[in-house]
Amino acid sequence: MGWPLVKYLLWSLLLFVQIHEHRACIEEERMGLLELKAFLKSHTNYTKPLLPTWVYETKGGCCSWEWVNCSTNTGHVINLTLSNINILQDYVRGTWFFNVSLLQPFKELRILDLSNNGIAGWLRNEESNGFSNMSKLTQLNLRDNNFDKEILRSLGALPVLKSLDLSFNNMWPLSSKELVYLSNLEVLILQCCGLNGSLPFKDMANFSNLEILDLSGNDFTGSITPYIGALSSLKAISLSDNRLNGTLNTPEFCALKKLEEIDLAGNGFEGMLPPCLKNLTSLSSDLYKGLILDMVSALDLSFNKLTEFRSFS
Ligand SMILES: *[C@@H]1O[C@H](CO)[C@@H](O)[C@H](O)[C@H]1NC(C)=O
Ligand SMILES: *[C@@H]1O[C@H](CO)[C@@H](O)[C@H](O)[C@H]1NC(C)=O
Ligand SMILES: *[C@@H]1O[C@H](CO)[C@@H](O)[C@H](O)[C@H]1NC(C)=O
Ligand SMILES: *[C@@H]1O[C@H](CO)[C@@H](O)[C@H](O)[C@H]1NC(C)=O
Ligand SMILES: *[C@@H]1O[C@H](CO)[C@@H](O)[C@H](O)[C@H]1NC(C)=O
Ligand SMILES: *[C@@H]1O[C@H](CO)[C@@H](O)[C@H](O)[C@H]1NC(C)=O
Ligand SMILES: *[C@@H]1O[C@H](CO)[C@@H](O)[C@H](O)[C@H]1NC(C)=O
Ligand SMILES: *[C@@H]1O[C@H](CO)[C@@H](O)[C@H](O)[C@H]1NC(C)=O
Ligand SMILES: *[C@@H]1O[C@H](CO)[C@@H](O)[C@H](O)[C@H]1NC(C)=O
Repeated sequence: MGWPLVKYLLWSLLLFVQIHEHRACIEEERMGLLELKAFLKSHTNYTKPLLPTWVYETKGGCCSWEWVNCSTNTGHVINLTLSNINILQDYVRGTWFFNVSLLQPFKELRILDLSNNGIAGWLRNEESNGFSNMSKLTQLNLRDNNFDKEILRSLGALPVLKSLDLSFNNMWPLSSKELVYLSNLEVLILQCCGLNGSLPFKDMANFSNLEILDLSGNDFTGSITPYIGALSSLKAISLSDNRLNGTLNTPEFCALKKLEEIDLAGNGFEGMLPPCLKNLTSLSSDLYKGLILDMVSALDLSFNKLTEFRSFS
């Protein structure tokens, strides 16, 4: 009779220790997450349980909730993934707007993923409050929603944003006025955004931090030069699947001293890249150290496509 009791007590102790290894989350943020869930729920058609681990009863435990990561030091929520939450009802009508004010409690948030939700924009009147408290947000994934370029102005309020994925939203027509809001970025992914005309490099002359740029799957026409040389920090670029043409062997590329990856497939280019770019390598994980991998995985710089353009050597 004694041993089972001891075992039971040991198990309880172990469980207790494990539970308390997770730093309790900040109460304001726990309430904030529940408010967020309630809002999302009001926009779902209940075909599947929404965020089932986000329940009030898990006292102090919101850091163990699904799609939430807290800082191990401070207990603040630093990473929130609300991707593909299966919003159908309003999505079909294309009128589903997100209340960004609900993000206000998360002052320490660094990574936010709202991809794949069919969101058409922020709720009016809430926009100005929206991002003002997220002064630490560095990575934002808005891929596969219904945003238009109006979103960019509100992103300008994020002081340290470094990485943005807006792929599969309609950003046409993107002018210098909107590009200004993106000029501090290190990673910009605009795959399949309905963009056309000439490449926007002229208006990107002061994008001095930009390391990764993906403009693939748009409808850009004309030449890759002039002005690409101004993107002096560029390490990787994809322009695949556009309607670009002209010659590739132009010395302007030689200004891109840090360029390691390039994908130009699916265009109408002539000739080879200039020999100054000989040191292009295949995708190396080191390249993205410090940047978020899952944001960058969109960038398909496959080795095959690359070798296609290395045959000059
Ligand atoms: C952020 O959270 C998502 C889902 O919970 C996870 O897949 C991703 O790796 C996290 N990112 C970081 C940098 O912790
Ligand atoms: C973030 O949370 C997800 C589960 O929601 C988990 O799989 C992942 O390991 C967590 N990441 C970190 C860095 O704790
Ligand atoms: C809920 O979603 C299902 C698909 O998962 C769909 O067939 C159904 O019509 C939707 N209901 C409403 C009210 O939108
Ligand atoms: C958006 O969320 C905030 C914070 O919870 C709330 O005060 C506000 O009423 C909401 N706005 C709308 C239009 O629902
Ligand atoms: C957001 O920040 C403003 C000032 O920066 C502050 O007055 C306000 O209380 C903050 N809101 C929340 C919900 O923390
Ligand atoms: C680029 O120029 C705009 C104004 O034209 C400015 O607001 C922005 O901060 C500049 N960006 C960088 C990275 O210097
Ligand atoms: C660019 O795309 C828009 C919207 O799809 C279209 O109306 C316009 O004619 C296109 N312009 C060019 C030059 O292809
Ligand atoms: C590039 O394509 C355009 C049509 O989009 C055409 O007018 C132009 O002549 C082409 N230039 C070259 C160098 O092939
Ligand atoms: C390529 O790399 C090699 C060795 O890393 C270096 O010696 C050479 O100068 C580089 N060539 C160019 C064109 O940068």
